Amino acid sequence: MLNISRLQKTYRSAGEQCILQDVNLELVPGDYVAIIGESGSGKSTLLNLIAGLDLPDAGTVTLAGQELTGLDDDARTRLRRRDMGFVFQAFLLLPHLTVLDNAALSLKLNGVQHNAAQQRAHAVLTAVGLAAMIHRFPGTLSGGESQRVAVARALAHEPRLVLADEPTGNLDAASAGMVLALLREQIKVRRSMGILVTHSTAAAATADRVYRLAGGELRPS
Ligand SMILES: Nc1ncnc2c1ncn2[C@@H]1O[C@H](COP(=O)(O)OP(=O)(O)OP(=O)(O)O)[C@@H](O)[C@H]1O
Ligand SMILES: [Mg+2]
Repeated sequence: MLNISRLQKTYRSAGEQCILQDVNLELVPGDYVAIIGESGSGKSTLLNLIAGLDLPDAGTVTLAGQELTGLDDDARTRLRRRDMGFVFQAFLLLPHLTVLDNAALSLKLNGVQHNAAQQRAHAVLTAVGLAAMIHRFPGTLSGGESQRVAVARALAHEPRLVLADEPTGNLDAASAGMVLALLREQIKVRRSMGILVTHSTAAAATADRVYRLAGGELRPS
């Protein structure tokens, strides 16, 4: 399970602006929650802290009994690689890898054999409607296509925890529906845990619970 307790974050360079004041959240396997909140309210900051990409000023993030805040960089990276799938708001695809290799990356990093990794990546890309594009490079994709590759990459290794930052922001209704269905399936069928950050109330409604981040705190919406 995932436990987030009394999380605090202030960016000194932002004029001592306290972004997260006291954030608490608990998820058990199969839980899928959405987080909404105004632009700049700290949603991406929170996901970065949960993923251990950044460290909080105070508070703890514990995933499956491991406290991230107590691990060194390498251990955090290993935990993230194995147990998390992160859909970044800015996609962060690797430009020199094909769509298929981008999607297979999380599997490769976890030691899955080349053929098995490519097969699984192909299946996930098909689920988001990109089967015809597997040999293309990210530089040739539209924003929405890139976003779907980012989702496929985050889900391919069936992570224990999925963190999706605005994963449908660039998508039409049909593509958004595919992405949201795939996210939900990963969480419900595989008993993962999911946190969906979104500005879309329709997308948020596909989660089990919706929270609003405001004033540095997370409250049921
Ligand atoms: N590295 C940083 N240094 C200084 N300030 C930062 C840093 N990262 C984020 N901020 C500030 O922290 C606040 C929260 O940013 P964050 O990206 O978490 O917002 P968000 O809720 O994800 O917004 P959006 O909906 O626009 O994506 C913003 O005011 C932002 O400018
Ligand atoms: Mg953001």
